[in-house]
Amino acid sequence: MSDNSTINNIHNLRISYKKAKLKIEDLACKPIEQFKTWLEDAINSETLEPTAMSLATVSDSGQPSLRTVLLKGITENGFIFYTNYESRKGNEINENSKVSLCFLWKELERQVTIRGNAERTSQETSKQYFSSRPKGHQISAWASTQSAEIPNRQWMIDREEKITSRFASEEIPYPEFWGGFNVVPKEVEFWQGRENRFHDRVLYKIVAENWIKLRLSP
Ligand SMILES: Cc1cc2nc3c(=O)[nH]c(=O)nc-3n(C[C@H](O)[C@H](O)[C@H](O)COP(=O)(O)O)c2cc1C
Repeated sequence: MSDNSTINNIHNLRISYKKAKLKIEDLACKPIEQFKTWLEDAINSETLEPTAMSLATVSDSGQPSLRTVLLKGITENGFIFYTNYESRKGNEINENSKVSLCFLWKELERQVTIRGNAERTSQETSKQYFSSRPKGHQISAWASTQSAEIPNRQWMIDREEKITSRFASEEIPYPEFWGGFNVVPKEVEFWQGRENRFHDRVLYKIVAENWIKLRLSP
């Protein structure tokens, strides 16, 4: 049995961030361009799941919810992920399109946070991505009543089997309750950890239809 000494000492767990600095003048003029550079760094650093991001949505009573989703595309004006439109996040976005994203690349001591609006991608974009997915993932999208309560795991497995045999001799069609959201940013912040919690933070925001950069206090 653990004596909880590790848990009781989490207040003493700390590391010093020393890997890099952020100079505002070195950052790209547009946040999406800067994001691409950092994402590439994260991919090259062999971070596990470099495209994983936290997505925050808000319910109609003002209750925020967070979960992880995978970034599947970067457009000129936003960040794309795919999901079930009838899930909790899908329903919350339908009611309130304001969302927030957060990427944490621990190995690089970096974080990017994004505030913006989520809009559904075109059905063509969703269909195209759906058709590129492995068959097992396509079947799961059909089988999952994402976020709804289910009796047990077997219920899912039975549904999956039914769907597999229903579409045995054809391509899995695109499920209309599933698709992409493009998060169009209003603000994007790049955070680089520094020594003694004296971190570098650069915020991009739109002023008179142009992106400006400013430095925030750590
Ligand atoms: C690493 C990781 C990646 C995930 N990627 C996705 C994704 O791209 N789309 C998705 O709908 N759920 C994804 N999930 C599951 C979600 O975190 C979440 O459990 C699910 O979407 C239901 O969320 P909701 O009930 O808040 O709508 C992922 C989970 C993890 C841990």
